[in-house]
Amino acid sequence: MNQKLTIALTKGRILKETLPLLRAAGLSPVEDIDMSRKLLFETEHPDIRLVILRGSDVPTYVRHGAADLGVVGKDMLLEFGADGLYEPLDLGIARCRLMTAGFPDREPVQGRIRVASKFVHVAQSHYASRGVQAEIIKLYGAMELAPLMDLADEIVDVVDTGNTLRANGMAPLEHIADISTRLIVNKAAMRTRHGVIEGAIAAISDAIGSGETR
Ligand code: PRP
Repeated sequence: MNQKLTIALTKGRILKETLPLLRAAGLSPVEDIDMSRKLLFETEHPDIRLVILRGSDVPTYVRHGAADLGVVGKDMLLEFGADGLYEPLDLGIARCRLMTAGFPDREPVQGRIRVASKFVHVAQSHYASRGVQAEIIKLYGAMELAPLMDLADEIVDVVDTGNTLRANGMAPLEHIADISTRLIVNKAAMRTRHGVIEGAIAAISDAIGSGETR
């Protein structure tokens, strides 16, 4: 049983924006994550280590207690649920929006609308809440391709600048949720390892407020 506190980080754009926060919080990895194929990293804090995961796996690791804390997009929490997790901090990074999107001049769909997304639960409940019958088609990436290839009428995806949609002739349609990156904590660990977890949360919280992250 490893006694170090483990923080699960989301790789990619979120990781890039998380590292300056960790640096300001005194939790920098001791080696360059980008230069390594390793997935587990010690930090300058002797009791805290980092693990690098896909965003969709971060809530799972934290829910099961394999990691104590996690840094993950709100989109993943909406899709995979937040049972067993506290969400004490909005890190305010990697901000974007979950939207439906499609061709702005498309003819109205007769019958069930086909929607491609990796956010199947979010999509399901969005269309259900509007009383729209939808067939949700699960994809793992490049959602924008689905309407172009007539696999789907619309997509549900995160939109930041809107450039990807525009480049493919599409536009955002309906707003589902504002997204940013959150710090999550395993509820049981919050009780059993309260001191060190509270310390880490406070250090990250101060780092958000300090502006020393650029
Ligand atoms: C996301 C999303 C869009 C794009 C939106 O993909 O799926 O493709 O970013 O950003 P924009 O509005 O600024 O163009 P990302 O690059 O995060 O990779 P992913 O497909 O792995 O999610």
